[in-house]
Amino acid sequence: MSDYVQFINGIKRKTGIDLALYKEAQMKRRLTSLYEKKGFGNFVDFLSALEKDRDLMNEFLDRMTINVSEFYRNGKRWEVLQNKIFPLLLQSNKRLKIWSAACSTGEEPYSLAMVLSHHLPLSQINILATDLDENVLQKAKLGLYPERSLAEVPKPIQAKYFNQEEQFYKVKDEIKRTVTFKKHNLLKDSYESNFDLIVCRNVMIYFTEEAKDQIYANFSKSLRSGGILFVGSTEQIFNPARYDFEVEDTFFYRKK
Ligand SMILES: C[S@@+](CC[C@H](N)C(=O)[O-])C[C@H]1O[C@@H](n2cnc3c(N)ncnc32)[C@H](O)[C@@H]1O
Repeated sequence: MSDYVQFINGIKRKTGIDLALYKEAQMKRRLTSLYEKKGFGNFVDFLSALEKDRDLMNEFLDRMTINVSEFYRNGKRWEVLQNKIFPLLLQSNKRLKIWSAACSTGEEPYSLAMVLSHHLPLSQINILATDLDENVLQKAKLGLYPERSLAEVPKPIQAKYFNQEEQFYKVKDEIKRTVTFKKHNLLKDSYESNFDLIVCRNVMIYFTEEAKDQIYANFSKSLRSGGILFVGSTEQIFNPARYDFEVEDTFFYRKK
């Protein structure tokens, strides 16, 4: 059994995370640079250290989960969401069930609430936001961001929904109250059903083809008929019909 396979097995036992479902070359590169920096010579030694050292385990999780995010990431897509997709979804239902999957530090679900507030009062907005990594969920709940995370936020929205605290910006409580954060592993945990909108962006790129296939099939089952999947701007689905999806707009898929 190779060094990396032993590592994968150990991590799965310890954390439930299956690294075999992430693209191997990319993951190995990221983790090798971390263990070398920490002074280990191979994956097996790194694993025994991880099993004993909680801080190192957190650093490993941080490295494997690539948490970069920003508000209104790829701004044009959020305009389509606001002006086309939400009006479409709201035609049939005023209470939307929305899921931001792999939400990282919260910029994405908070952006969803801000965009949807153009159509509905905040008291009627409820967003489920999940991620594998508990550290990012803690940051998300805090809701404090550097200015660069807000680069794409329209100025009136920034003025309405953020308080400046020195060089940081804090999301107002009225927005925070619309989002429920939960730990969820897309590769392992069960999925809720009957969603009107699932947003899952900039995480599928890290998974193997088999893992992606399984996740798209799960998303399809989780959406109601007519519900929408919003994906990242490098994550087009090559064969949407396989999952009962039709293209609604670029990077938006409608479940038949
Ligand atoms: C690059 S961030 C994307 C954040 C946000 N969706 C965006 O587009 O800006 C990728 C996130 O996927 C999460 N992630 C990685 N593997 C996951 C899994 N198996 N289940 C759930 N989340 C996962 C990471 O923890 C990380 O926060």
